[in-house]
Amino acid sequence: MTDQERQEMVVTPWEVSGDIDYGKLIEQFGVQHMTQSIADRIAKHAGYMHMQLRRGVYISHRDTDWWLDEYEKGNRVGLYTGRGPSGHVHLGHLLPWFFCKYLQDAFDADLYFQMTDDEKFLHREDLTLEEAIRLTYDNSLDVIACGLDPEKTHIISDSDHIQHIYKLGLKVAKRITFSTVKAVFGLTNSDNIGAIWHPALQAMVCFLQSDREGRNIPCLIPAAIDQDPYWRITRDIAEKLGYYKPAQIHAKFLPGLAEGGKMSASQPETAIFTTDPPKVAAEKVMSAFTGGRDTVEEQRRLGGRPSICNIYAYYYFLFEEDDEALRERESACKSGSLLCGECKKQLAERVKDFLVDFQAKREKAKEVLDNFLIKPVE
Ligand code: TYM
Repeated sequence: MTDQERQEMVVTPWEVSGDIDYGKLIEQFGVQHMTQSIADRIAKHAGYMHMQLRRGVYISHRDTDWWLDEYEKGNRVGLYTGRGPSGHVHLGHLLPWFFCKYLQDAFDADLYFQMTDDEKFLHREDLTLEEAIRLTYDNSLDVIACGLDPEKTHIISDSDHIQHIYKLGLKVAKRITFSTVKAVFGLTNSDNIGAIWHPALQAMVCFLQSDREGRNIPCLIPAAIDQDPYWRITRDIAEKLGYYKPAQIHAKFLPGLAEGGKMSASQPETAIFTTDPPKVAAEKVMSAFTGGRDTVEEQRRLGGRPSICNIYAYYYFLFEEDDEALRERESACKSGSLLCGECKKQLAERVKDFLVDFQAKREKAKEVLDNFLIKPVE
């Protein structure tokens, strides 16, 4: 593919599009490449290597090695991640949340989970505040369905739980200038002033556990790399406020079902939502883009192209735990013996089974939702 044929890459907290070049992003964002040693150290504490670590889903980080050092010295460590509730949760969002569950168990860590209903209200013309807040509680069911520990998980709605976050948010806001926010987030004079304030609230959660517990606790943020601009400004001010800089571990994007890009809620036919009826999700899989050839004859002769195939990506990221089975699928595809129709059908079955199970967990989560919401410090 020539440079002209490639679509320009855009990666911001509000837009991810084009052909994503992770090498370039790592350079542009000034983050570190993920290392085998970090993966091994995490796996050692967890007792096993998570599929996302084995498969290189986490491509870069900042100071994750330091966060591990602190844990290995016997210090408590914490986790922070979040969601901007503007619609249903899709499978891409679940990737970092599944990983948080793994890390929470491995490191006995509290997880602060922020629902930025304010951010979504401020950035989306079509979203009312009431709907964004309703979605906070709806999306929380997905978070809970990932199996997190109610004793150690603190879900925060920026709007409904402002009393828990406003004071620290103010201290953070005082340290960030208007020109920094404009430069980092590309805001202009015609953006509303809420959008200028919101980054302070997303930043402050990095220090929230330390603030609540009255001592510094190293914080690690598992998320896709699109959220990185927030952590850049947070790291710049952390020490001035007397806190550690937050560490990050960055995931790649789960692609959508159409060619290229990431799974995006704004193209519902190309995303699988956790609330999709399993049959509808299976139909989406059956009409997905693949790395197949134009005709069966060509495919038998030349083989398929798993490297550009989104169906293969779904097996790789989520739906094939067994490394050997994944390798066999890849070579059957490349040799032309496994055709796209069959491969899609098998994935559709797995997606259906996954959704039946996840939706049952989501239903159960309604009974325990209150236990997961942030409480006042005792
Ligand atoms: P939001 O709702 O855009 O995304 C929620 C989380 O999902 C990740 N993500 C993906 N991961 C893999 N593949 C994809 N296709 C994909 N699409 C989204 C995002 O990186 C994110 O981790 N402003 C934030 C909410 C937030 C937050 C945080 C996120 C507040 N505090 C701390 C991460 C960490 C937002 O709108 O996320």
